[in-house]
Amino acid sequence: MALADVLAGVPKGSPEEAISRRLDFDRLPKHVAIIMDGNGRWAAERHLPRVEGHRAGIDSVRDTVETSARLGLSVLTLYAFSVENWKRPVPEVSALMGLLRHYLRAELKTLLKNNIQFRVIGQLDRLSPDVREELEAAVARTATNTGMVFSIALSYGGRAEIVDAARQAIIRGIAPEALDEDVFSSFLYTAGQPDPDLLIRTSGEMRVSNFLLWQIAYAEIWVTDTFWPDFRARHLLEAVADYQRRDRRYGAVSSDPVGATN
Ligand code: IPE
Ligand code: IPE
Ligand code: MG
Repeated sequence: MALADVLAGVPKGSPEEAISRRLDFDRLPKHVAIIMDGNGRWAAERHLPRVEGHRAGIDSVRDTVETSARLGLSVLTLYAFSVENWKRPVPEVSALMGLLRHYLRAELKTLLKNNIQFRVIGQLDRLSPDVREELEAAVARTATNTGMVFSIALSYGGRAEIVDAARQAIIRGIAPEALDEDVFSSFLYTAGQPDPDLLIRTSGEMRVSNFLLWQIAYAEIWVTDTFWPDFRARHLLEAVADYQRRDRRYGAVSSDPVGATN
């Protein structure tokens, strides 16, 4: 995918087109991870029940998945429900699960058409059997697709994932001297995927809320005040453009020596 694919999906003469034309398609993030936040506040601003914010957020998911695939990202991970979110009122949790099933039913065809591989990460045994079956069916149906990996973090906790990985390493009998960062990563839910290069959070909160704790070690972070239901292709493209202006040093000396002689 490339500029032409992105342009085919945005209106002519739009801000999206202008941002896309300035992107360097050889330096895209491989993996973008998004903390979709602010649905409740979006609804409250409109005097609507919180669930209406979640419902409206589905359009943002659709737009983000499509734009990410057109851009040619390798992996898009969306944080949809944390292990801590189980503390929310039962009706809100049920509504969220219902919306998830609705999304899967409505979008599976599009995922297949766009060669997208759907995955789920998290403590799936905590989900009700009907939700789990639906998720597993979507994962199985798209398993041989070779395009973008679209991963949903559901009943997901970063610390829980790390503990699960440690358990797996013990169960598999990995010797202490054989355990290094690469081996450990192979026991995470994201095994085989590149770490997120870009972490986006909507609704202005400056925290990671237990998301991909291991994997975001060197992710570039981009926060927008926009609430998730208002997030669209334009925001994603802005985030990628901003990412391309960052100097990723990984603890070493700047590769962009601006000011180095001062
Ligand atoms: C994000 O929106 C969706 C989930 C966490 C499931 P919120 O529901 O957290 O919305 P706010 O943060 O209360 O506005
Ligand atoms: C983070 O949002 C989790 C998801 C987006 C799924 P929360 O709304 O649950 O996070 P906090 O409570 O503001 O940290
Ligand atoms: Mg929130």
